[in-house]
Amino acid sequence: MHFLKDRGFALPSTEITPRAVYEGRRVLLKQVAAGVAGSTLAAWAGREALAQAARPNKLAPLAGAKSGVAGSITMEKPTPYNDVTSYNNFYEFGTDKTDPAHNAGRLKTRPWTVAVEGEVKKPKVFDIDELLKLAPQEERIYRLRCVEGWSMVIPWVGYSLSELIKRVEPTGNAKYVEFVTLADAKSMPYVTSRVLDWPYVEGLRMDEAMHPLALLGFGLYGEVLPNQNGAPVRAVVPWKYGFKSGKSIVKIRFVEKEPRTSWVVAGPQEYGFYSNVNPKVDHPRWSQATERRIGEDGLFQKKRPTLMFNGYEAQVGQLYAGMDLVKNF
Ligand code: MTE
Repeated sequence: MHFLKDRGFALPSTEITPRAVYEGRRVLLKQVAAGVAGSTLAAWAGREALAQAARPNKLAPLAGAKSGVAGSITMEKPTPYNDVTSYNNFYEFGTDKTDPAHNAGRLKTRPWTVAVEGEVKKPKVFDIDELLKLAPQEERIYRLRCVEGWSMVIPWVGYSLSELIKRVEPTGNAKYVEFVTLADAKSMPYVTSRVLDWPYVEGLRMDEAMHPLALLGFGLYGEVLPNQNGAPVRAVVPWKYGFKSGKSIVKIRFVEKEPRTSWVVAGPQEYGFYSNVNPKVDHPRWSQATERRIGEDGLFQKKRPTLMFNGYEAQVGQLYAGMDLVKNF
């Protein structure tokens, strides 16, 4: 795509992965033919070692009571911690899946503030430790489906974003919520690159942001978030492609107009503002009908069918009643 060529830098992994997956499969087939499929195991062992190195000690505990929000606890088996924390997209730290775990150690998550501003009656700059205690922490076990065609099941800890929204009292002009994430050249080696326009910006319509499944996440697996997963606070919007869930948030703005989100700016024909998981709307360069579950990538592992709204249709389908989801992809 022209926007990728124009940028003249390493392609974002949304571009790279499908080809890599495809090539990986070809290589594997050759290896099987040659009887040396053990290199897949070596790659897996490499990520395992990386995850262990990135977590020399346990992180601070952050327990959450099991959530009562409808649909918030999937019964599917959670993806192993080591996969969740060593296979990441966090382009501020690099475009390879293992770059965030390698590089995010430099991120300083204290002191940290989140400015909540714009069309609200009670704007406020929250210290992260105050934000952590704003509402009771809950455990939510969500599927995360990346636009690249892979998925995970992650036990998050956090509370509904609506808890924060209610407290700052949006005005009648607040139609959207914009999330602005950290862009700190000192700790984030790639924010000087042209991979994306920084800071990474994402957004939701107000009713989406108020939906109880939209989570402000502070932890996973009962511990505070590892840096590579978006410490100290990130959004988690389980019915949308993973890129809608901004990591390491520093500002939440309430606005009247649809926010210019980073991926829409980078490639409007490929990434829409809504980005609801939809197996019927393909990405222009690949199908969205199936997905690969990380941690289950055995040689003959079949892909899973992707579910409408990532399986959360019963809970969120109503938000889009009457909307053309092909046009509003
Ligand atoms: N947030 C920021 N700030 N920067 C990013 O590059 N990547 C997004 C999203 N949030 C990204 C981000 C993408 S593409 C995905 S799939 C998810 O984070 C991945 O979250 P995970 O690595 O915790 O699974």
